[in-house]
Amino acid sequence: MTNEINIGNLTIEPNLALAPMAGVTDSSFRRLIKELGGVGLIVTEFISVEGITRGNMRTHRMMRFLPEERPLSIQIFGYDDERMVAAAEIIQECGADIVDINCGCPAKKVVNGGGGSSLLRDLPQLERILRRVRKAVSIPLTMKIRTGWDDASINAVEVARLIEDCGGDMVAIHGRTRMQGYSGQADWDVIAAVKQAVSIPVIGCGDITTPEQALARLAESGVNGVMIGRGAIANPWIFRQTSELMRGEEMYQPPLADKHRVLHRYHELLRDELPERALTGKLKQMCGYFTHGLAGGARLRERVFHSQTISEIYDQIDEYFASMIERGVPPDALTREERAFVDPEPRDPKNAEFTRSAPVTTG
Ligand SMILES: Cc1cc2nc3c(=O)[nH]c(=O)nc-3n(C[C@H](O)[C@H](O)[C@H](O)COP(=O)(O)O)c2cc1C
Repeated sequence: MTNEINIGNLTIEPNLALAPMAGVTDSSFRRLIKELGGVGLIVTEFISVEGITRGNMRTHRMMRFLPEERPLSIQIFGYDDERMVAAAEIIQECGADIVDINCGCPAKKVVNGGGGSSLLRDLPQLERILRRVRKAVSIPLTMKIRTGWDDASINAVEVARLIEDCGGDMVAIHGRTRMQGYSGQADWDVIAAVKQAVSIPVIGCGDITTPEQALARLAESGVNGVMIGRGAIANPWIFRQTSELMRGEEMYQPPLADKHRVLHRYHELLRDELPERALTGKLKQMCGYFTHGLAGGARLRERVFHSQTISEIYDQIDEYFASMIERGVPPDALTREERAFVDPEPRDPKNAEFTRSAPVTTG
């Protein structure tokens, strides 16, 4: 099994990608993941073609990235082919390695405008977009899709063939329908069928939370690579661990001190990017994701949630880690209540924890 993916003229190695996540995969988070190692491809949060082409400042800030994030894919969403082309050209000029089109966002706001997963129901428009964007840019063009609009209209194979026919260089597929949102389980049989149907690379996505699962999905479905979203928020070392497992090496198990350090590092990366208020919200959100599964994590989350300032947040975090390290508590020693709290089911992004600072939840 090779652990490279060739996307157009680009070689991605290893074949592990950070999934695009609105409100999460901003430049700071992407750099944090890159620093921890093992990730082959990084994708931005989805960015509106309307905002890009109308020169919206906030949107343009979302497109900024640093060289250490490469290879980087910028994801766009929209409906109008004229604007899609103009946005893709701007992205190419910005120096992105890949332009990715979102064809999976289930959010009403996006779908009502004809974009995101709505394009799965409008293949003529999807084809127009793909053909025109393909002609306009020379960087690799990829698309992220879902399995279909609903159970009665699963058409991922047809869509993937269309992407290939229009000159797309890779398709990433989240194994749920639009109507499913984030409920139920990702359907990896559909992902495997897509892989069988096309000769461009296919990246599978959905519900991977451990390195072992990542390897099993690669082997069983035959996909060229896997993409990990929520599993990387809860465990940002998942890419490093999966790469180690692929090489047959011993997997890194982060000690508590490393988890503590990562929360500080995230703050360092974020503080130049955001005003204090937004920064406080984002740190609370990240602390929430990150302490799931840690002994005493629920208590810490409660305290952090009620903190007013960044220094109060970090006082709580520092105190928690100092006490855990002093007591020699293993990072995964959960109380019974906490074990019940760590939900084995994929969490619903409609749940406030995933959306608190996200402009819109997509994918
Ligand atoms: C908070 C959040 C935001 C998301 N934003 C995007 C997005 O901007 N673009 C996209 O294509 N998918 C988005 N997704 C979907 C993910 O990329 C991924 O397909 C999905 O979460 C399933 O993978 P996972 O089980 O590994 O999380 C988002 C998911 C979450 C949880």
